[in-house]
Amino acid sequence: MAASINSSPVHGERDLRGQTVVVIGGSSGIGLETARLARAKGADIILTARDPDRLHRAGLELGASIAAFDATDFGRLGRFFDALPAPIDHLLQVAWHAAGKVRPGGTLLFMGGTGGPRPAAGLALSAALTAALPAMTRSLALQVAPVRVNLIAAGFAGAPSSASPPGDRIEQRREQLRTTLPIGRVVGPADIATLAVHLMTNTAVTGATFDIDGGQQLVEGRAE
Ligand SMILES: NC(=O)c1ccc[n+]([C@@H]2O[C@H](COP(=O)([O-])OP(=O)(O)OC[C@H]3O[C@@H](n4cnc5c(N)ncnc54)[C@H](OP(=O)(O)O)[C@@H]3O)[C@@H](O)[C@H]2O)c1
Repeated sequence: MAASINSSPVHGERDLRGQTVVVIGGSSGIGLETARLARAKGADIILTARDPDRLHRAGLELGASIAAFDATDFGRLGRFFDALPAPIDHLLQVAWHAAGKVRPGGTLLFMGGTGGPRPAAGLALSAALTAALPAMTRSLALQVAPVRVNLIAAGFAGAPSSASPPGDRIEQRREQLRTTLPIGRVVGPADIATLAVHLMTNTAVTGATFDIDGGQQLVEGRAE
């Protein structure tokens, strides 16, 4: 769907019909959940990830096109975008090679984190990226306009508890957050998918960073 069709504020149920959504890292977690919701809203889906078997299963579930490669291999990433048959509308995660492929009004959507409450040894690169991504998003939104650019910064959004063995560290963290977060529950991939699809359909939003953490930063603080 081209930008002109996207120009009304926010669309209804099947509001991604005729649009193509590319999810880099779409075979599990937040990427897969976003792809599921976008598919349910009528989008055509293209998924990428490294593990071909898991990607194949996700592709079958969604009736999606798939391409297995490591997105940190920039040569391979560039060839992937070069080979895309048609302009795309929305892209989750990796944008550098993609801006020229996204239709006006579409979105480059980055997925980042809110950062931990305290600096921690070994997380220097991650902390630097977390701090830099909102600024990069704002600049890129001007650079590639009228394509839109937005960033989702998630707090803990672990997999559903059924995916974790009892006593697992992630399950313990989930239980802790369940009792401390103001929302009284843990944020999950489906919550982030809902925000991601909203950002695809709301053509007024660009250059913005959306924290989604259930209030985690309110109760645990944030690294500055
Ligand atoms: N879950 C959270 O609590 C949380 C919180 C804040 C931020 N985030 C960020 O959100 C993103 C998704 O998190 P998630 O929890 O959904 O992760 P996940 O369940 O592990 O899914 C990651 C997806 O990306 C693919 N992938 C990973 N490395 C790749 C690479 N080099 N090239 C191509 N595909 C790659 C994986 O498939 P393959 O392994 O087969 O490649 C998989 O499809 C990550 O960037 C994460 O840092 C997550």
